[in-house]
Amino acid sequence: MKYAPILTKFPHFLHGGDYNPDQWLKHPTVIDEDFRLMALSGCNTFSLGIFSWTSYEPEEGKFNFDWLDMIMDRLAKKGYNAILATPSGARPAWMALKYPDVRRMGRDGLRQPYNGRHNHCWTSPLYREKVNVINTRLAERYKNHAALKAWHVSNEYNGECFCDLCLKSWQGWLKNKYKTLDNLNECWWTYFWSHTYTAWEQIDPRDDCIDGLKVDWARFITWQCCDFMKHEIVPLKKLTPHVPVTTNMMGFFDRMDYWAVADVCDFIADDAYPTWYDTEDNTEMALLLSATHDMHRSMKGGKPFLVMESCPSATNWQSRLKRPGVHKREMLLAIAHGADGTMYFQYRKGRGACEKLHGAIIDHAGHEHTRVFKDVAEIGQIHTRLDDVIGTSIKPEAAVVYDWDVKHALDFSTGPTNEKKNYLDTFKKMYKPFWQSGISVDVIQSTCSFDNYKVLVLPMLFMLKKGVAERIGKFVSAGGTVIATYLTGMVDDYDRCLTGGWPGCGLRKVFGIWNEELDGLAPDDKQQVVAVKGNRLGLKGKFKAYDYCERIHQEGAKTIAVYGMDFYAGEPAATVNTFGKGEAYYIAARTEDAFLMELTSAVIRETRIEKILSETLPEGVTAQMRTDGKREFIFVFNFKTKGQTVDLGQAKFKDVFSGKTVKDELKLEANGSAVLERM
Ligand code: GLA
Ligand code: ZN
Repeated sequence: MKYAPILTKFPHFLHGGDYNPDQWLKHPTVIDEDFRLMALSGCNTFSLGIFSWTSYEPEEGKFNFDWLDMIMDRLAKKGYNAILATPSGARPAWMALKYPDVRRMGRDGLRQPYNGRHNHCWTSPLYREKVNVINTRLAERYKNHAALKAWHVSNEYNGECFCDLCLKSWQGWLKNKYKTLDNLNECWWTYFWSHTYTAWEQIDPRDDCIDGLKVDWARFITWQCCDFMKHEIVPLKKLTPHVPVTTNMMGFFDRMDYWAVADVCDFIADDAYPTWYDTEDNTEMALLLSATHDMHRSMKGGKPFLVMESCPSATNWQSRLKRPGVHKREMLLAIAHGADGTMYFQYRKGRGACEKLHGAIIDHAGHEHTRVFKDVAEIGQIHTRLDDVIGTSIKPEAAVVYDWDVKHALDFSTGPTNEKKNYLDTFKKMYKPFWQSGISVDVIQSTCSFDNYKVLVLPMLFMLKKGVAERIGKFVSAGGTVIATYLTGMVDDYDRCLTGGWPGCGLRKVFGIWNEELDGLAPDDKQQVVAVKGNRLGLKGKFKAYDYCERIHQEGAKTIAVYGMDFYAGEPAATVNTFGKGEAYYIAARTEDAFLMELTSAVIRETRIEKILSETLPEGVTAQMRTDGKREFIFVFNFKTKGQTVDLGQAKFKDVFSGKTVKDELKLEANGSAVLERM
């Protein structure tokens, strides 16, 4: 099965970037050059007008779209695509000064001055009205334009506002959620420090002693963002129902639950700025980037997504140049995980202001004879060779959960041991064994369906949202395998501790353990996890444990490993419980990666999850696959700065770029990548 292309009737990879010709209107020859260089760079798609409000409406109510008409017409003439932005990410100074309530109010209660971008009030009726007017104008004007292919709604929505209007909106949101103050007080446990609220107006989001309040404030911000975006797209959907809408996300960005934002988008778009800092080994960065892409593919059930922004060279906050091969590898990695387009910030560097030194396709030198331009042109070439990959995807047999509510609940809890929680890092560690084995996984949130997986991985599932524990139980009893870690099932949806023994909500039965208490280790404390003889996974040896060690008791589970030191030496550190037709693994301690690798590899063997390539990949190499169910495109990457050889076993492949047959082994250069088709 194949998904439809991201842009209607354009079954090719999207390649291009943010294009800001409105910064160059006084230099028409530069714009002519831009158009000459489009074909040479292999670009076909441009995001326009992201920060162009003042050029459209220099004075209140006076509109001018001349430059956009000209650019849209020129793009259409060449058959290029425009992803047209709504300009709400930054507003004209006249508006900010005339209507102060469009500006955000800080935590300190002070209205921010006109400054920067991404800082409008989410609630301001005036701002919403102005946004509606400009969006309507744009949609009216370009609704039948051949270049208009998608809407880029605003830019990197983020942040919070504490103005009276936003506080009122928050209190209204709470009222809608909790119905009565009595219910809210119970859910937030406000009896603490005399916080029982007796009127909705008393509830100030800046109060930082009520954890449930803080988790809800993060949810409220997500809701505000979605509500704002829905408001923005009303005229777009009305006037251009045929044009898909999206907004650019920022990976695992905190305080915004992108799963909710995803629901408002027709396709997923992301801004990805990996830092390839490490000279020897870029595996850690690659892992995070891969997981980010997996999440974006998973957000729409496998539908290909778009990398809306990336940097073709070095950003202005990290000036390390991309080594040869690195750019190609970064772009192919996105495609391998389900991107049907890789675009950049930005097409041409602006001469001034705070992004003048940020990498772009066209440098200040102004021509095509640069290393970066050639790298980009190469990607354009590569894209044309991969048309058959468009619309293909993958149906992984395993999923790893990353859940923003869990992240926020962990972040906002005082303890256990604040600076050590590292939720994202733990997620990465649990994701790594699959990635390192060349196995595709979905990255999902805890409320997603688990039905299609054999293995479900739950890193630090601290918060159990409504129904999640029951669904985990059902998944295991129906034959699924679950791997959970320390800090599982400690609080409910409202961030109240679960009573009756952890992991709560019935998971104690599923895992066959009771987690009595947690030892938070200091950096110099020594602890280890020792595999027990004859354990069902065949694990052997001792592994370092650090940060978190839970003292768990077996209640039906079998021990796989025990602690090696301290007063709880010999007590279980990792267990497995047979529950119905499935197995539930519990890892009670934070351990070195080797333990996770061994345990997960054994589970992979037991559950017969298929690897994309050979049995063992060299360290720092991964393989990912895209398929339509018939053809299999396999992407192989080397994240080390030395060449590596991959054993291909019995299988035979065709190198998609050279057309040559590849068998027995595949040689990857330093920072190398390859695309193979299974024969
Ligand atoms: C973000 C923004 C862009 C630009 C780039 C620079 O992703 O969306 O407008 O500022 O960062 O890296
Ligand atoms: Zn506000």
